[in-house]
Amino acid sequence: MVMIVLSPSLQSFPPAEAIRSHHLDKHRRLPSYLSIPDRFYFRKADVFRNADECGFPDPKITGVCDPNLVHVAITLDVEYLRGSIAAVHSILQHSRCPESIFFHFLVSENNLEALVRSTFPQLKFKVYYFDPEKVQNLISSSVRQALEQPLNYARNYLADLLEPCVGRVIYLDSDLVVVDDITKLWKTSLGSRTIGAPEYCHANFTKYFTARFWSDEKLSGTFRGRKPCYFNTGVMVIDLAKWRRFGYTKRIERWMEIQKSDRIYELGSLPPFLLVFAGHVAPIEHRWNQHGLGGDNVKGSCRDLHPGPISLLHWSGSGKPWLRLDSKRPCPLDALWAPYDLYGHSH
Ligand SMILES: *[C@@H]1O[C@H](CO)[C@@H](O)[C@H](O)[C@H]1NC(C)=O
Repeated sequence: MVMIVLSPSLQSFPPAEAIRSHHLDKHRRLPSYLSIPDRFYFRKADVFRNADECGFPDPKITGVCDPNLVHVAITLDVEYLRGSIAAVHSILQHSRCPESIFFHFLVSENNLEALVRSTFPQLKFKVYYFDPEKVQNLISSSVRQALEQPLNYARNYLADLLEPCVGRVIYLDSDLVVVDDITKLWKTSLGSRTIGAPEYCHANFTKYFTARFWSDEKLSGTFRGRKPCYFNTGVMVIDLAKWRRFGYTKRIERWMEIQKSDRIYELGSLPPFLLVFAGHVAPIEHRWNQHGLGGDNVKGSCRDLHPGPISLLHWSGSGKPWLRLDSKRPCPLDALWAPYDLYGHSH
């Protein structure tokens, strides 16, 4: 268990200095020193072992189809690699049964497998190639260039990418750390729903779509009979069997096609999820997504924590803790990310 103790002085703090933007162009032409994975240095994580209570895996079932596994999907790319590695590290550290977690890494470039293997020698994982071409033609420009990266859209395709024997997966963004046992999130009941996520019904739902969308009954009518609430797609529990059965990937793609001709929203991969699922989401406790710690999408100012218990801290928004820490102008809460960082030479 982790206690996060906040001093009163943390409750409000001035906005951060402007964060230097760190965007790559759409075609991901990287400086050559960045495109060579072995120029990234990550320390080897400590050995993690299952507690006695975790039980033994069935020796007859091996690999990814073992029904006792907890499945976690996360993207790996050069720009967010440090965040993804910290996320995995945090999950292992807080889990009673870390050897029972199987990681599904989604990649679009480079071979990052060796890097994961050397950082986490005993990790159970598989790397999946997500072809950017699959969504390149469906992506429209958004308020923040990072939101347009094809790999952001890989979460739409988990049901196709992962093995058919994987019936449930936790999808996690790369800019977060888990500070509780992920098994608790894994065991959340979804009832009859296909996805579960913390919902924010007080958020102004109108602003996620354009006036054009709301004024066209044929489009906005999709929400008729629902009570749609905002949810963040960076933490989702997904019933993949139901997703496959109901063909949700196609439904999301259809909205992305409409967006290309009609401009019905301004953000990236989130709005199509809202269109398909808002109002039909199994509500998960808010402790599993303390989002927005990156600050807003334009200025990246520092954010405070919402009240209540915390199981997951999420630096959504434009500021990322590793960049702010490196710039020596971190936000106060970035100190909660730092212990999971494995970047840099071993001492
Ligand atoms: C919600 O947002 C819309 C669009 O930005 C705005 O017109 C409306 O007044 C807002 N509603 C509330 C209750 O703040």
